[in-house]
Amino acid sequence: MEDVKEEIKSRLPVEDVVGEYVELSRAGRSLKGRSPWGVDKTPSFMVSPEKGIWHDFSANKGGDIFTFIMEVEGISFREALEKLAAKAGVELKKYQGDKKVSERKLRAKEALELATKYYQFALSKNKAVCEYVFYKRNLNKKTVKEFRIGYAPSSKDALSKFLGSKKFSKKELEDAGLLNQYGGDLFRKRMMIPFIDTNGTVIGYTARTLEKDGIPKYLNTPETLLFNKSRFVFGLYQAKPAIREKNYVVIVEGNMDVISSHQAGVKTAVATSGTAMTEQHLKMLSNLTSDVRLAYDGDEAGLKATERAINLAGALGISLSVISDYHGCKDPDELIQKDPKLWQEAVENCKPAMDYLLERYEEILNLSTAQGKKEYSDLAVRLISYLKDPVIKKHYEQLVAKRLDVSVEDLLAKKLSSSKPRRLKQVKTTVDKTSLDTTIKVIEDRLLAIQLFGGDAGSKINLKMPEDDTTIELLSDVFNKYYGDFDEAALKKEVLELQKRYQMALKKIETENFAKELEAAIDDDEKTNEILRKMKKK
Ligand code: UTP
Ligand code: MN
Repeated sequence: MEDVKEEIKSRLPVEDVVGEYVELSRAGRSLKGRSPWGVDKTPSFMVSPEKGIWHDFSANKGGDIFTFIMEVEGISFREALEKLAAKAGVELKKYQGDKKVSERKLRAKEALELATKYYQFALSKNKAVCEYVFYKRNLNKKTVKEFRIGYAPSSKDALSKFLGSKKFSKKELEDAGLLNQYGGDLFRKRMMIPFIDTNGTVIGYTARTLEKDGIPKYLNTPETLLFNKSRFVFGLYQAKPAIREKNYVVIVEGNMDVISSHQAGVKTAVATSGTAMTEQHLKMLSNLTSDVRLAYDGDEAGLKATERAINLAGALGISLSVISDYHGCKDPDELIQKDPKLWQEAVENCKPAMDYLLERYEEILNLSTAQGKKEYSDLAVRLISYLKDPVIKKHYEQLVAKRLDVSVEDLLAKKLSSSKPRRLKQVKTTVDKTSLDTTIKVIEDRLLAIQLFGGDAGSKINLKMPEDDTTIELLSDVFNKYYGDFDEAALKKEVLELQKRYQMALKKIETENFAKELEAAIDDDEKTNEILRKMKKK
């Protein structure tokens, strides 16, 4: 029980949990606000982010996030635990094994340490793979050693057998995330790159196929007791000293980009999983430095991710910039292969993320048309609203106003009249829609997972097959997680159930769309009748 409580606490900062009920403002090392119970006239409610506790001087009570939720919601400890576990993305079930979780974690770490050594040894013995690592990927011995790169042999259970002979049970290997759904080795015939946590402990792997079009390109350890994707920063263990020394961090998309970057002398590089940077990632990094440089692709996903990062960064007091000069290369690794100097320069020549995004929007939108100006100002006003510092805010307001040839007052008027109320309304409707969309997505993923990996049970599902490796890998994770131990009959039953739920969710969306159409056509009788006729037909 202590384990799961600690795990949840480590994922949910007290100020975030309390902050949903009490408006908090900073007061030195603590935060203060008004008591959610009391009738205090002055703020008498304190939160200490460092200690993870709160205290209410007016009501004379205090505690941690669990007691807070119990008190404020008037629910039992068990209910508070379930609520916070769901919020933190912690699976309570995982913690109900007979062994204590701390022991299980320790054994999993031991298994992974031994596995890493095994993979390292296997690499040294395989000439073809050495050729890939040292010549094709151009890594040197020092780098391979520092990042503990290895090779998983192609046999279906070489590692399991080896670890079995070292007295590791199947359950322990499963806890470590080393097994597939059949109890054999998850990783085969792949270059193994360990995930190393900030203590230097191996907690999982990302494993690259050695085949040209192998699927998935990277197979990653699933979420385990040790590995949590949204909190893991790849390369941070190796990059920490350099980040402290240089006082900046470079975030790249790929793990191989991190490794190449270190070899090229830019040792401040780390990666979050692709562009999926979370607030937790940024928070961890903001403890080390406030100068964060993003090296994302200039594609749509990269732009979106950059915009999201600006929003997160504003609240954390981070100054965010973008590295964009790739000389036509597709990622930092490729640029480094061309010339490490070019990468070093690109990192030096980064520019503020706001400037970068505004310039990109300018390129994409045609500012000589009214529509182009409108879209540009919508985007710019939204970006500016993320900024917290008043001086920086003013700077960009002036810049954008000038670019549009309007006064700052006009720009701000736009913000007040159109963007604010609309945003509020948008937020509300999108919340509902997203939850329905999420439901559909979840069902779709499960059906696809069964279609791909469920053998006969999946043969009757006819969804469009995904083509990209990341999705396929994700679906493989979904399958292992939910259906790893299902037999065929159970799977078939699940398919029927999922299909039923899928139809229901689709129907609900359809109804909602009709409702929206009706609302829009409220003044047009003819149109209203037409929509009603359409609805009847369904
Ligand atoms: P990329 O496809 O850009 O790979 O994915 P890369 O880093 O350039 O790899 P190389 O150079 O071809 O070896 C970027 C990141 O997305 C995640 C990985 O974290 C990868 O580093 N990814 C990609 C996966 O997790 N699985 C995949 O199948 C593909
Ligand atoms: Mn690459």
